[in-house]
Amino acid sequence: MAVKIRIIVLSAIVITILALVFRTCSSPPHQGEKLYSELCANCHMESGKGLGKAIPPLANSDYLVQNRDAFACMLRTGLHDTIKVNGVSYDTPMEGNPTLTEVQIVNIANYVYQSWGNQAEEFTLGEVQKQLENCE
Ligand code: HEC
Repeated sequence: MAVKIRIIVLSAIVITILALVFRTCSSPPHQGEKLYSELCANCHMESGKGLGKAIPPLANSDYLVQNRDAFACMLRTGLHDTIKVNGVSYDTPMEGNPTLTEVQIVNIANYVYQSWGNQAEEFTLGEVQKQLENCE
């Protein structure tokens, strides 16, 4: 009887340890990806391809690459311009999201700039903070 209980207790300990190890090893979903799904994908699509002539693409967007310096402000205060993305004009305004924190913007930036074939250098917190100082 005592042996049986000991085996049960030991198994419980082993299972708990395994569960803890598994939890720390499997990384949590990237915050940028999650925020993108929640805040951007309904317009720009999960694929980053946008929606016809209404919503510009983020995947392989020349505008995205050329306007890296303005990215943080685009998210904070929006974009209300006529812009050209890969040769196509867009003029539907995009609303800003003033409640996004600096860290959330960094994570969204890194997701957008490094997904769907996009390849850009990692954004740092310092870079985003600097951009936000100059928002209009
Ligand atoms: C309600 C729809 C909508 C949502 C939600 C939205 N956008 Fe946009 N986005 C647009 C439109 C429309 C434009 C074009 C704005 C213009 O012409 O001034 C745009 C333009 C852009 C651009 C510049 C053009 C390009 O394609 O490179 C970027 C970058 C961008 N959005 C990123 C994002 C990110 C990141 C999010 C989520 C935090 C987001 N947008 C959420 C509609 C949206």
